[in-house]
Amino acid sequence: MEKTGYFLIIYALMSLTAVAQEQDSTRRAFLAAQAIIQKESAADHAQMLEQLHITSLRPGPSGNPDAPNYANIDESQATPYTSLPDPLTLKNGKKVTTAKQWWNERRPEIVEDFDREIYGRVPKNIPKVTWKIISETREMNGDFPVITKNLVGHVDNSSYPSINVDIELILSTPANATSAVPVMMSYGFRFPPGFRMPASTTATSGTATQATKPEPTWQQQLLAKGWGYAILYPTSYQPDNGAGLTKGIIGLINKGQPRKPDDWGALRAWVWGASRAMDYFETDKAVNAKKVGIEGLSRYGKAAIVTMAYEPRIAIAFVGSSGEGGVKIHRRKFGEQVENIASSGGYHWMAGNFIKYAGPLTPNDLPVDAHELVALCAPRPVFISSGSPKVEGYWVDAKGMFLGGAYAGPVYKLLGKKDLGTMEFPPMETALVDGDIAFRQHSGGHTTGPNWPTFLKFADRYFN
Ligand code: GCU
Repeated sequence: MEKTGYFLIIYALMSLTAVAQEQDSTRRAFLAAQAIIQKESAADHAQMLEQLHITSLRPGPSGNPDAPNYANIDESQATPYTSLPDPLTLKNGKKVTTAKQWWNERRPEIVEDFDREIYGRVPKNIPKVTWKIISETREMNGDFPVITKNLVGHVDNSSYPSINVDIELILSTPANATSAVPVMMSYGFRFPPGFRMPASTTATSGTATQATKPEPTWQQQLLAKGWGYAILYPTSYQPDNGAGLTKGIIGLINKGQPRKPDDWGALRAWVWGASRAMDYFETDKAVNAKKVGIEGLSRYGKAAIVTMAYEPRIAIAFVGSSGEGGVKIHRRKFGEQVENIASSGGYHWMAGNFIKYAGPLTPNDLPVDAHELVALCAPRPVFISSGSPKVEGYWVDAKGMFLGGAYAGPVYKLLGKKDLGTMEFPPMETALVDGDIAFRQHSGGHTTGPNWPTFLKFADRYFN
């Protein structure tokens, strides 16, 4: 008996060592792959600089509070700019006073600026996507029976067969629904084996606590209302790095060649995938395609607001900690800067042209700013979410995101809707949800989790 116990312990130790060794080699493989991606991204970034005739860029500040070049977090230094571009003044200087002028004249001007300088142009004639249900299962999510469909949207790649593009989407709707249901689509993270989340940006979902019964996840909160949820995996059709710009849907259209300065970046490509998901939802009787919302966090928070701006069929947006490149005012000198996103670690999200604003141009030269991205969503509802700087850090610039929503107000009002209701940054956990632009800063970290209940109350007004 004693001997058996002894052997069991040895066996357990051996297995643990084997697991640790395997984890070690997975981690090593991941880091090696990362190093190659970084090298290739830097090379692609350099060729884009050449196309732009740029020889040097201003470096962005550090996100590390202990670094000497840590980003500015002093509010008194945050607004070196004196004015922002006016969403309601046409390029010819005329004021926009009617909804018709907004739709026919001003909005197209703003879209053109975002296309050319910020997110890039979507190519014409993208080949067709064919959706296929790979599996359909009835399962339980907590107490709720759901029907889950695993879907793949295959892009016709006959023009360049060496690049294969499959959009991966999962849809779950209540199994007992008697009619088509509203659906929240979330941009889903998918990490390669060996990946470790940096401590400061740990993304969590739901509001797990020490309580005996775990709080319902965001999916369960949706199911409790009789709504469904979908998860769209952006990196299934466009990799999240510069090296991947010659792959995925961008690479397929460019036949494996590098981008031109106004070609679309990863964010705009991810949004294209969300539009194709919408095409699918319009064919699925379980989904009320008039009530589909989009949610995302961090880089996918950026994707969520760009989706709302560019895809008119999306009915509501829940934009989590989108920061620079999302709803944060580019001109604000607080937390992450244009220069950071223009570097080889972030430029792939944007059009190549965006890099110009990190040298020789400055953020002040941008023809548009983030409040106009929110304005492009009008009159549809947008919920802007942030965590607490104490937990999430100052990098995302909660106030900068608040202002992105606040300064979009005049366009909402012109279209007969309500703005944020204040220009004053509210205290922590104050929900500004009476208008069609909403804002709330929760006291947690880099997650949308704690804001789901508030968002859902806001969404009720539109979906119920
Ligand atoms: C970095 C980056 C952000 C981005 C975030 C993310 O922090 O600087 O702009 O939003 O990563 O995880 O998506």
